[in-house]
Amino acid sequence: MLRSHTCGELTLNNINEKITLCGWVQKSRKMGHITFIDLRDRYGITQLVHEGDLNGSSEIYGGFFSRENVLQVTGIVRERSNKNKNLPTGDIEILLANNQIRLVSPSKTPPFTIEDQSDGGDELRMKYRFLDLRRNKVKNNLFLRHRIALETRKYLDELNFIEVETPVLIKSTPEGARDFVVPSRMHPGQFYALPQSPQTFKQLLMVSGFDRYYQIVKCFRDEDLRADRQPEFTQIDCEMSFVEEDDIIETFEGLTKHLFQKIKQITLPAIPRLTYQECIESYGSDKPDIRFGMKITSLNHFSRGKDFKLFQDAEEIAGICVQGWSEIPRSKMDDLSAFVKAQHAGLPGLVFVKCLEGNAYKSTVDKFFTQEELQKWAHTLSGDSGDLLILSSGGKGAVLKALGNLRLKIAEEMGLRKKDEFACLWVTNFPLLEWNEGDPNLPDSYKGRWVAKHHPFTSPKKEDLGLLSTDPGKVRASAYDLVINGVEIGGGSIRIHERDLQEQMFQTLGFEKEEAQSQFGFLMHAFEFGAPPHGGIAFGFDRLCALFGGSDSIRDFIAFPKNNSGRDVMMDSPSQISDEQKSELKLATLNPNN
Ligand code: AMO
Repeated sequence: MLRSHTCGELTLNNINEKITLCGWVQKSRKMGHITFIDLRDRYGITQLVHEGDLNGSSEIYGGFFSRENVLQVTGIVRERSNKNKNLPTGDIEILLANNQIRLVSPSKTPPFTIEDQSDGGDELRMKYRFLDLRRNKVKNNLFLRHRIALETRKYLDELNFIEVETPVLIKSTPEGARDFVVPSRMHPGQFYALPQSPQTFKQLLMVSGFDRYYQIVKCFRDEDLRADRQPEFTQIDCEMSFVEEDDIIETFEGLTKHLFQKIKQITLPAIPRLTYQECIESYGSDKPDIRFGMKITSLNHFSRGKDFKLFQDAEEIAGICVQGWSEIPRSKMDDLSAFVKAQHAGLPGLVFVKCLEGNAYKSTVDKFFTQEELQKWAHTLSGDSGDLLILSSGGKGAVLKALGNLRLKIAEEMGLRKKDEFACLWVTNFPLLEWNEGDPNLPDSYKGRWVAKHHPFTSPKKEDLGLLSTDPGKVRASAYDLVINGVEIGGGSIRIHERDLQEQMFQTLGFEKEEAQSQFGFLMHAFEFGAPPHGGIAFGFDRLCALFGGSDSIRDFIAFPKNNSGRDVMMDSPSQISDEQKSELKLATLNPNN
């Protein structure tokens, strides 16, 4: 070893010991003929003291003690006169002599300061990610990630799950996004796809009899990026045999509780369950944030039969109640209306009712509705004096979505979405299928077709099987999502394990028989050799890390992430390949400007 200790472990117990440390110069300051140096490694920072001038000091990049140089130093531990209570090593310092300092590796001046509050912008820090990873904040995120992975493995191992690696060069399997593809040199004109998830492999492992599988695994999806979406991301991917929906939910509620306990020291209560329908009706979203109330309530029954045309013509009239907001100014109401209109073209402006003292109300529709009618709305929305009622009207889907988005925006402004509060929820009874009007994340050929809400291997609820051929939109899936603080953390389902039903499913999804056979024949064929009933789930591992780390962005929890346009700015990829590579792969030379 080049060192006897790390920079994070020396204390008063080591006084007078001769020790050797290795690390990076965080900073140094010269006071008279004494130099103080903060030496950093992944474990912490230790103060070094050097008295006098350095004989033969290196001039490389500005001297021995310039920032980010790697030093190896030997010295004597002594008690500090000026203690630093914020550092575990703050009681001691290391007294160095000239011949005990070795410049192991010099550093150029770093492009940004490697401190908790760095002066580097996002792109610059991404370009020099290897330096950004030296900063406590980013470094600690990776330690958190490691601990979550470790605790996940411990929990699943206890329950007899076995980790199996599945291939990365595979055949395209649709899971709701576009594939990244890899051309094959040995089979010109043919392509591998990178897995959107190991879905079909884990199902095959169940047919093989492994019974309980998991894998912390990279997945790849060519889709629009957001703060919680990366083109390559990691899942905790799991599958179990001989189980029903409740068994999987309970097993993975157990994992969730285990992680909260071990990582956050929080004992979670039982996780509530809501159906998809309930979520949409009450929160306008299938991943509601239930840390706060502000539930959406329908006001259809009380609001018609008046001259107010907007409501007369509306399919749906619904509202939310914002506690303590009756004093907001007119301009704020206009902003909220504009927010809704910007997100949902076609929706009219919002209606506002201020609940005043003594059951009095002041609204933007006073001309049309009596005080008694406004009071009915207030009672239905549980509005009290001091509260503000916000009503939206129009098509049902748009109204629920708009109020759903509004409640999130208002809660954010009110500080109700606290990073250190957690509310988990299982969403169940999803629809099996969704009519695709033109989702930009799906290939064009999927437009005007039914697409699977989760994926095509999800089993319909037994009791809805009959509807698959008659009214596919009404079929519910044996599928469930785990939502925490309004983020979809995980999703899974009971799978189809019968060839006939899987074939019928592909037919409903608009696949020609031959197409289904050529893409998924391997799976359907396997179902003919004794496939156990099975189901599973996958957690978004990066999202889980971000949640525990109190961040909205998963990028901070990935060692080498892509930027918002899917580029790795450090390696500068994606990038051109040489003409030689292209010709080996029998790829036409593409003009990037076309
Ligand atoms: P699903 O597509 O719901 O299910 O993915 C599971 C979880 O993975 C996370 N996730 C992502 N995280 C970061 N970036 C992305 N681009 C991204 N896409 C998804 C989400 C999501 O809940 N094979 C099924 C699972 C199963 O049925 O067992 C699947 O992949 O947190």
